[in-house]
Amino acid sequence: MSSVLLTGGAGYIGSHTAVTLQADGFEPVVLDNFSNSHPLVMDRLAQITGRDMPLEQGDVLDTGWLSQVLLRHRPAAIVHFAGDKAVGESVAQPLKYFHNNIGGAVSLMRAMVQATAEGGWERPPALVFSSSATVYGDPASVPITEDFPRSHTNPYGHTKLVIEDMLAAQIAADPSWRVGVLRYFNPVGAHPSGLIGEDPEGPPNNLMPYVSQVAVGRRPFLQVYGSDYPTPDGTGVRDYIHVMDLAAGHVAAVRSLLQTPGSFTVNLGTGRGHSVLEVVRAFERVSGRPVPFRFTDRRAGDVAQCWADPTRARQRLGWCATRGLDEMCADAWRWQSRNPQGYRAG
Ligand SMILES: NC(=O)c1ccc[n+]([C@@H]2O[C@H](COP(=O)([O-])OP(=O)(O)OC[C@H]3O[C@@H](n4cnc5c(N)ncnc54)[C@H](O)[C@@H]3O)[C@@H](O)[C@H]2O)c1
Repeated sequence: MSSVLLTGGAGYIGSHTAVTLQADGFEPVVLDNFSNSHPLVMDRLAQITGRDMPLEQGDVLDTGWLSQVLLRHRPAAIVHFAGDKAVGESVAQPLKYFHNNIGGAVSLMRAMVQATAEGGWERPPALVFSSSATVYGDPASVPITEDFPRSHTNPYGHTKLVIEDMLAAQIAADPSWRVGVLRYFNPVGAHPSGLIGEDPEGPPNNLMPYVSQVAVGRRPFLQVYGSDYPTPDGTGVRDYIHVMDLAAGHVAAVRSLLQTPGSFTVNLGTGRGHSVLEVVRAFERVSGRPVPFRFTDRRAGDVAQCWADPTRARQRLGWCATRGLDEMCADAWRWQSRNPQGYRAG
């Protein structure tokens, strides 16, 4: 069985990817410092998979330790999820983001070089990196292909762009590196068991967890930012992708890197957009709960509409998203209604 190291593997997307990799015959190893996740995730992963998943608790910024972890597990591939991801916080505390996100990626890449040399490996493990549609900045049109110009509108997005460039430079410097850059659109939903899901601390920045928390009674109403966008109902349109589809995209990316030479950058999205009001209505339908909302001003930096052209992922990875909006809402609701306070009360 090939082992796959997941930095940030206890987080939202990492935990779903761990389950999916295991179901596909890989041996996932979770590495996390729990700065934005709860150790209870490990118990939930064991409940879902029927076995204890190996855990390495520590910080990706610690290069020496990380290289020892690599030598211990000899992973065929690494998926690098670890990092901070709150856009607003990145504007207020840019250095935190440059340190943890860019510093974390540098540390991981150096640990890979170190372990490859020390272990006498033929080449470093394959690497999959969590990038984001945020690297497209304010796109000129939709759907968005991977060749669109990249830009950034906040320090978080800037870190993703810099890390993509660092990876490209390293591939150019050493062609034995195999890297898959995955640009996620808007991950939502949860594992169908309702045992793991998205558990933001404080008021959620993203729509779906906010809607779920309103439906479960944790928050009184949803603020809808902008009702006058040039979209069919005036609210913002995004490409929501079920986190289990996203997880399957990671498995396909790992397989592709292990089987086909070369590196790639692909969008992971569904190729269709849904407006805020469509999400609210779908959530009310599947949960049977009202989701009261109020319109407020547009939020600075938000674009009217954004969705992926997922063609390249289909061609290169043989992957495409299969789950629709109702399934995303139903699974998000199962997680939220069974864990109203997230992992904290578990
Ligand atoms: N969720 C989204 O909407 C979204 C969209 C695009 C890209 N991404 C990217 O995907 C990745 C995963 O996102 P997520 O939603 O699962 O976030 P998350 O916060 O749930 O998971 C990140 C995990 O990394 C861990 N971590 C952070 N810094 C670390 C460090 N220095 N050492 C060890 N562990 C560390 C955290 O404890 C957490 O468990 C991130 O890189 C994020 O930027 C997320």
